[in-house]
Amino acid sequence: FNDATGLADWVSRTRAGLTEGRFPARAFNDVDVHALEQERLFAKAWCFLAHESEIPSPGDYVTRKIGNNNLIVARDEHGVIHANLNMCRHRGNVMCKSEMGNASHFRCSYHGWTYKNSGELVGVPYMKEGYEGRLKRKDWGLVAVRVDTYEGLVFGCLDPEGPSLAEYLGGFQFYLDLYLKHGLGGVEVHGPPDHWVADTDWKICAENFAGDGYHTPVAHQWGFHLGYFPSSGTTHSQGWAASIPGKGHGIGLGHGPGYPAFSGFPDQVVAGMKEAMSPEQVAVFSQIRTAVGTVFPNLSFLMQPFSLVPGDPGVRFVTMRLYHPAGPGRMEMYSWCLVPKDAPEDYKAEAYRAYTLAFGQAGTFEQDDFENWTKVTASAGSGLVRDLDFPYIMGMESEPVPEFPGPGHVVRPYVNDTNFRNMWSRWGDYLAGEA
Ligand code: FES
Ligand code: FE
Repeated sequence: FNDATGLADWVSRTRAGLTEGRFPARAFNDVDVHALEQERLFAKAWCFLAHESEIPSPGDYVTRKIGNNNLIVARDEHGVIHANLNMCRHRGNVMCKSEMGNASHFRCSYHGWTYKNSGELVGVPYMKEGYEGRLKRKDWGLVAVRVDTYEGLVFGCLDPEGPSLAEYLGGFQFYLDLYLKHGLGGVEVHGPPDHWVADTDWKICAENFAGDGYHTPVAHQWGFHLGYFPSSGTTHSQGWAASIPGKGHGIGLGHGPGYPAFSGFPDQVVAGMKEAMSPEQVAVFSQIRTAVGTVFPNLSFLMQPFSLVPGDPGVRFVTMRLYHPAGPGRMEMYSWCLVPKDAPEDYKAEAYRAYTLAFGQAGTFEQDDFENWTKVTASAGSGLVRDLDFPYIMGMESEPVPEFPGPGHVVRPYVNDTNFRNMWSRWGDYLAGEA
């Protein structure tokens, strides 16, 4: 774009195009769009940081990012979770260089300023001789970021103003519970996340996981044919696409006709789900084989069965993933396996194995997806392609499903662009500064 006006015009044309079911390729790989997302979207939205089970004990921390800001997410000695900018207030050095660990304090490797894990500045070398009483420690703590949680998910927001997390999620909690309420103890991460970089735009993945049931029978067809994925091209289009209008969140709920309710989970977990979820949730979720959803902008979940031995009934696993924008057309990926906290250990191990075979850096389904996503990203950044639009017209006329027990806009079939139009419309609101 030649200037800010050119970019603003493009954003407004993009928003208008969405109402007609078009979205531009350029959105998926462009240096100016990436910069605008940093400033208007990631600096404003609630973004996922960590799962509470990653930092269960006092002093536990992980380092994460929101946009181009590095953060330390730590649990203090009172059990309170803090997110602070991972930057020393003295000259801006990175405070903590590990991805995870346990520490009561962080000491800067440059001049030695020392902070509690809650962010307070407590140690300054040559305090008396150098600063002669002019430096007030309480004024120079680490910069705190707003933190809130939902069912173990820790989110941060760089904007000190704006909606609460509950308002931001806007009813999507109903669907998130499908992945999180696997018993009264909830879920926990099974080991550290898989973490890698890819030449892929974060939006391609976030869109795919907002309910792209369309790609599954093609991109992952081998899974049906070889008996690893108990589904088929015919049944795969059945189900619902649910989105929260004006919020950007969306989920594809793949119906499993003839697929036994909650199969692939041990009885103990099923009993726990029924206890932890509402009757409305149980009524919907017991019919679901695969559920794939995105919390706008870049946190996604997937629950699906995967057969450890071809032809066997699948083991149901849950993965949670974060698509961190690392640059135009570049992404840092985090992928976790979530397991019910109270489940038998052998199920946890099986679910992790099923997850690892399908997803994570070396997962078979993951390879299928990234092969496509990196190519889409490369196309979107190329000369002629960048001025083209893609069609987002599936389900433009779909009527909402009457009397669906869950919130939001729910349409049929599962193969549908409705969730994506809602998502990119919310993205347009942020980029236009109107969110
Ligand atoms: Fe951290 Fe100087 S930059 S103490
Ligand atoms: Fe896929």
